[in-house]
Amino acid sequence: MTSDERKAALDAIAAEVRDCTNCRLAQTRTRAVPGEGSPDTEVVFVGEGPGYHEDQQGRPFVGRAGELLGKLLGSIEWRRQDVFITNIVKCRPPDNRDPEPDEVAACAPYLERQLEALNPALVVTLGRHSMARFMPGARISQVHGTTARVAPATGARDATVLAMYHPAAALRTPAIERESYEDIGRAPRALLDARARRAAALPAADAAAETITEPAAADAFAEPDDLTIFQQA
Ligand code: URA
Ligand code: SF4
Repeated sequence: MTSDERKAALDAIAAEVRDCTNCRLAQTRTRAVPGEGSPDTEVVFVGEGPGYHEDQQGRPFVGRAGELLGKLLGSIEWRRQDVFITNIVKCRPPDNRDPEPDEVAACAPYLERQLEALNPALVVTLGRHSMARFMPGARISQVHGTTARVAPATGARDATVLAMYHPAAALRTPAIERESYEDIGRAPRALLDARARRAAALPAADAAAETITEPAAADAFAEPDDLTIFQQA
C-alpha cells in the first residue's frame, strides 16, 4: 500500500467506527474514538478503551493517562504524531468499567483492519486487555518490558509486541511508573530488531525497492544506534 492508500483505509475505518452500533457501548458513548497518528508509522500503541476525556473529544489518550503516555514517549524522544495510538474497544465503557468479552469481540475487526493497513513492525500494548490480544495467556506482572512475535491473525502480518503496564496504573503506583519508563526504554531496540527481521525476510527485489525509496531506513541498518522512527515507503 502507498501512504495515500493507507491514509484512505484508516480514514474509512474511522468513519465506520464513528457510526458503529455493533455493541452496547454505542448506547452510552458520547463520541467513538477510532484512534489517530501517522499513517506511515512503524509503531502502534494499543490501550484498553476511551475514558471520560477521550469520550468527550473523540481522541485517544488525551486525559491524565495520555499526558503520562506523552512523557513516556518523550523519554525515548518519540513523538505522538509519529506513531499510531488506538484502543481495544473504541467506545467508552460506562464508569470506566472493564470492557466485556462480547464488546471486545464486536470491536476486534476495527483494530485488525487498522493493523492490516499499517503493517507495523512494533505493537506496544498498554495494559492487560491489550496484552491479552497480542500475548494470549501472559501475565502483565511477568511480561511487561518483554517482547514476542505477534500472531498474524491479529491483523499485524509481521510484528513484534512489547508489553507495558497501562499508564493509568502507573499514575496510581509510583513503582509501576518507574517500571513503565524502563519498559518503554526497550522500545527503540525492539523496533530496530523487528525492522531488521522484516528486512531480512523481504525477497531480494522488494529489498532493493525499499533501498531506493527509503534511504533513511537503509541508513538505520548501517547505524544501529540511530533509534529514530522512520516512515514507511
Ligand atoms: N485509557 C485507555 O486505555 N485509552 C485511552 O484512550 C485513554 C485512557
Ligand atoms: Fe462499535 Fe466498537 Fe463502539 Fe462497540 S465499542 S459500538 S463495536 S466501535
